[in-house]
Amino acid sequence: MSTESKVALVTGASRGIGAAIAERLAKDGFTVVMNYSGNAALADELMQKIERDGGKALTAQADVSNPKAVRRMFDAAEAAFGGIDVLVNNAGIMQLSSIADADDANFDRQVSVNLKGTFNTLREAAKRLRSGGRIINFSTSVVGLKLENYGVYAATKAAVETLTAIMSKELRGRNITVNAVAPGPTATDLFLHGKSDELIARMAKINPLERLGTPEDIAASVSFLAGSDGAWINGQVLRANGGII
Ligand SMILES: NC(=O)c1ccc[n+]([C@@H]2O[C@H](COP(=O)([O-])OP(=O)(O)OC[C@H]3O[C@@H](n4cnc5c(N)ncnc54)[C@H](OP(=O)(O)O)[C@@H]3O)[C@@H](O)[C@H]2O)c1
Repeated sequence: MSTESKVALVTGASRGIGAAIAERLAKDGFTVVMNYSGNAALADELMQKIERDGGKALTAQADVSNPKAVRRMFDAAEAAFGGIDVLVNNAGIMQLSSIADADDANFDRQVSVNLKGTFNTLREAAKRLRSGGRIINFSTSVVGLKLENYGVYAATKAAVETLTAIMSKELRGRNITVNAVAPGPTATDLFLHGKSDELIARMAKINPLERLGTPEDIAASVSFLAGSDGAWINGQVLRANGGII
């Protein structure tokens, strides 16, 4: 697949893994639509950096949990660039708590951003993505690790893995692949926030490569799945985690 003139929509591209994916796909030759929720300044800064480096990008504010906003974002991307080839469903939140202590707001917010948000963009992509397209969802290796306090978060991501497999079949005949990337602990706000240095160091050592993942490590997996070398991978979950599970 030549990435000349291909368009990639990356959700949650203002920070962390999504920002690294936007930069990487722009370097790979994609025109990148960078979604964000609240951090317009960060998204704009990254867009300018991508353009300085010779890439092409556009920012698009939308709370992915809002179906109308997601529809508007797809409309805007199509109006700007004529169509969408790649959807990267990276936007996500994590609120750790035991099941006993999780309150309704904690449960509802994680389900609405991680699961409904992914569903909202998948539904649009199913109707609109061009032939030869790619969809890359975001799960987590905690679906396999099943750590305490990750119950609600991991459950939303297990549901995303199920949507991934089923949608890969529903798109039969469209020449579009649907996969998920499931990172292990990766050095972003989402992972680092609220953890002690000691806990971070301990978690970094669990995998046999004995370090945290970087956003660029994860972006490399997305680049593979979005590019020509990923063409035969479909309906799979790629655990990008240094071997933690
Ligand atoms: N970091 C890890 O260790 C790890 C491990 C496994 C899986 N993951 C998954 O990887 C993905 C990226 O995580 P990260 O670590 O990069 O997180 P992060 O650093 O917290 O960044 C989250 C990104 O998602 C955006 N976002 C949050 N809620 C949104 C919403 N409702 N609508 C649109 N955008 C929204 C944020 O936008 P604003 O800046 O505008 O708020 C931000 O760009 C997530 O799906 C996460 O579950 C991460």
